[in-house]
Amino acid sequence: MKILVTGASGFIGGHLAEELVRRGHEVRALVRSSSKTGRLERAGAALVPGSLEDKASLAAAASGADWIFHLAAVIHAPSWETHLSASVEGTRNLLEACARTAPGLKRFVFVSSISASGPSGRGVLKKEDDPCRPISDYGRGKLLAEKLVRDFEPKLPWVILRPPNVLGAREREVKFVLSALRARVKPVLGRKEAQSSFLMVEDLVEGLILCAEKPEAVGEIFNITDGVPRSWREPVDILARLLGRRCLTLPHGLLFALAGAAELGFKLAGKRPLVGRGALRHIRDFYWLYDGSKIERTLGFKPFLTFEEGLTNIVRESGLERGSRTSAK
Ligand SMILES: NC(=O)c1ccc[n+]([C@@H]2O[C@H](COP(=O)([O-])OP(=O)(O)OC[C@H]3O[C@@H](n4cnc5c(N)ncnc54)[C@H](OP(=O)(O)O)[C@@H]3O)[C@@H](O)[C@H]2O)c1
Repeated sequence: MKILVTGASGFIGGHLAEELVRRGHEVRALVRSSSKTGRLERAGAALVPGSLEDKASLAAAASGADWIFHLAAVIHAPSWETHLSASVEGTRNLLEACARTAPGLKRFVFVSSISASGPSGRGVLKKEDDPCRPISDYGRGKLLAEKLVRDFEPKLPWVILRPPNVLGAREREVKFVLSALRARVKPVLGRKEAQSSFLMVEDLVEGLILCAEKPEAVGEIFNITDGVPRSWREPVDILARLLGRRCLTLPHGLLFALAGAAELGFKLAGKRPLVGRGALRHIRDFYWLYDGSKIERTLGFKPFLTFEEGLTNIVRESGLERGSRTSAK
C-alpha cells in the first residue's frame, strides 16, 4: 500500500511509520524543516517536506495514497489560534488535498484523542457516543477536527480513533519520569484515586493498522484502551522498580511548584518543559476512563502487551536497565 503518515516525526507517528515500513508498505512521511527525521530515514520512509499549513506540500504528500494516517497536531500550544490553525485548519487542508490528489483513497484514519470526549466520571467508562465535553483548547480543537472529517464528503472512507494516555519509548511524560528516576527522584503524579485509561504505543499501532485494513472500520469512531483503569502512580512505581533505583519521593505539590518555575525558565529560553502544570492538573483533578469494547467487538482489537511488558520495552529502549551505565537518549 502507498501510505501517507502525517506526524511521523513525532512519538506515535514514528512508531507507526516504522511498523508500516517493516510490514513492506511504501511509507511517505510529511516532515517540517525543523522535524527530527533520523529514525524515519534509517527506517526507510520517504520524506516529503511540508506542513499542514502548506497546501501544495499536502497535495504532493497525499498524491496517489491508498491509506492516510493523520496524526500531526499541536498538543501543547500557548493559544487557541495555534490549535485552530494546525489541528483544525490543517486537517481541512489535508482533506482538501486528498480530494484533489488521492482519488483512490481507501482509508483516512484520523487520530483524535479522549480529550475530544472530555473527562469521565469516577468509575464511569465513557463510550464513543456519550456527550463530548472537552475541557482544553486541545480537546476542543480535536472535536472540531473530528467534525470536519465526518462531514467532509460522503465518499471519504474515514475512521476516527480516540487513544487515551499512550505510553512508549520517546513519549514526553515517560521521558520526564525516566529522567527524574535517573536522578533518583520519584515524582508523585496525581492523586491515588484519580484514574486514567492507558495504552502502550505498540498496541495502538496495531489498532491503527486494523482501522486501515478492516472494512468494518469505515465511518466509525473508536475509543481504544488496554481495558484497565489505573492511577498515574502505577507506571511510575513500575518504572522505578524495573530500574532498580532507590529514589527520593517528590510530592505532587512540590512537583507542581517546580513545573511552574520550569515553565517560566523555559519560556525565557523560548522552549517548553517536558511536563507543565496543565498536564499535572489534568492528571490530578480528573478521571479519564473510556470503554474500549467497541473496537474489540468490531475490529477484533486486543492489546498484545501486558502493562509490565510495555514498560519493560520502554526501559530497554532508554538504555537505563538495572546495572546499565548508559544514559537515556
Ligand atoms: N501521546 C498521547 O498520549 C496521545 C494520546 C491521544 C491522542 N494523541 C494524538 O496522537 C497524535 C500524535 O501524538 P504524539 O504524542 O505522537 O505527538 P508529538 O510527538 O507531539 O508529534 C506531533 C507531530 O505532529 C507534527 N506537527 C505538528 N504541527 C504540525 C504542522 N503544523 N505541520 C506538520 N506537522 C506538524 C510534529 O512535527 P515536528 O516533529 O516537526 O514537531 C510531530 O511529527 C496527535 O494527533 C495527538 O493528538 C496522542
